[in-house]
Order: sequence, then C-alpha cells, then structure tokens
Amino acid sequence: MKPIYLALDFADWQETELFIQSNHLQGVPVKVGMELFYREGPKVIEKLKDNGHSVFLDLKLHDIPNTVYRAMKNLGKLGVDLVNVHAWGGSDMIRAAKQGFLEGSRPGSDGKLIAVTVLTSMNTRILSEELGVPAGVDDAALHLAVLARDSGADGVVCSPLEVPMIKRHCGFSFYTVTPGIRLKNDEDQDQQRITSPAEAREYGADALVIGRSVTRAFEPKRTYEKVVKEWNDGNEKGNS
Ligand code: C5P
Repeated sequence: MKPIYLALDFADWQETELFIQSNHLQGVPVKVGMELFYREGPKVIEKLKDNGHSVFLDLKLHDIPNTVYRAMKNLGKLGVDLVNVHAWGGSDMIRAAKQGFLEGSRPGSDGKLIAVTVLTSMNTRILSEELGVPAGVDDAALHLAVLARDSGADGVVCSPLEVPMIKRHCGFSFYTVTPGIRLKNDEDQDQQRITSPAEAREYGADALVIGRSVTRAFEPKRTYEKVVKEWNDGNEKGNS
C-alpha cells in the first residue's frame, strides 16, 4: 500500500507521544521535520522505529557537497525510509548526498534519497519577484526533478499537481512524495499548490505527506482515517 506520512510537527517528544497515543496512531508512517529533530536529535528516530513507525526524515539539506556528503553518512545510519535535500543545491550536492546516504546505510537497506523541487508554499510570483527565477512553478519543478534524477536521486518532493508531468519526463518509477494535501473545507494555511488526497491519488503520487489537516483537526483519528480512505479508494460519489 502507498504510504501516508503523518507530519509530526510538534515541539518535543512528549507532545508527539501524547498525540500518537491519545489518537491511537501507533505504527503509522510518520515524517520527522526540523522542529522535532532539532529538539530531540537522532534518538527520536530510534523511539519511533522501536514503536513500529516507518520514518521520512525531512531535514531538506542544502550546503556544499562535502558537508552534505558527511551529514548524509550520519543520517544513513538511522535506517529511515526517506531522507531529502533541496534540488537547488545542484548536481554535485545531490550526488554527494546519495553517496553519503548509501555509505552510511546498512547494506541492502532500501532507503530513498529524494530532492525537494519547489516548495509547495511557493508560487510563480515568489519565484519571479522575490527570487529572480523567471520560470513558472511548473517549469522550475520539472527542471529540478530532471536534475535530481540525472544526479542519482530516487525521487522528488513536489506538489501532486506536478506528478504527471514529472513521471512523464523522469519515468514512472521515479518516486514522487507529495505534501500540500488538504481535505475539502480545510484552510490552505501557508500552502499554495494543494490538492485533496483523492486528487493526489488520481495524479499518481507515490506517497502523501499530511500534517496540520490531521494534527490540528477536531478529531485527528477520524480525519486521518478519512485521508486513508480517500487515498486508498478515491473519492466516492456523495463523499463530503
Ligand atoms: O501541515 P501541512 O500538511 O502543510 O504539512 C506539510 C509538511 O510537509 C510540513 O512538515 C512541511 O515541512 C513539509 N513539506 C512541505 N513542502 C515541501 C516539503 C515538505 O510542506 N515541499
């Protein structure tokens, strides 16, 4: 089954554990980002794995190739499913990341290195007016996905909207992980290029990342189950 990584964007382990236990979400795939990892360090990954969770470690590395290589060697030792870098770091950096990750990982491990294309919080105006990138979001995301593939990445983080185009150019097996997921009637918050879980499924995404729609929901468990159902079955007629 294609995974849904629940973004554990909590301040510390205590808050994280309380959320997981009180909502009976033990063992679901999870994403650990900067907030939790910078507070708790690698031990949080051990705890989650010990509790049966598979883990996407979302630290979005972006530095000179040698630094990223050495950092990835350490991350490889954690035995996570997915790690990532910013594709904006360029081909040498992505290659160095992959090399470090492979060298750090246990032989035979099937962890993937993926590259962030254009954050789902960005749009064409931000790219052009703030960052001086004349390409539209689609072109920039595709360009970075091709760069990532050619540099040895196993896949990308992108908006579900970009999945068909990226698969067409990079191959069907090129792994696409998609944040920017919202249920009907949710607020967009800081995300821009969003879809529902059912739409992400239709676009052919390989894995979902969902955070606040579940973690800040009135009934997180029920909301999580709704996301799982939409992701697995699509939108049935009459569903709200
Ligand atoms: O709360 P929400 O569902 O918007 O959470 C999205 C999660 O995915 C956050 O943890 C964010 O850091 C992460 N993410 C993202 N866009 C990317 C890569 C990761 O929103 N391109």
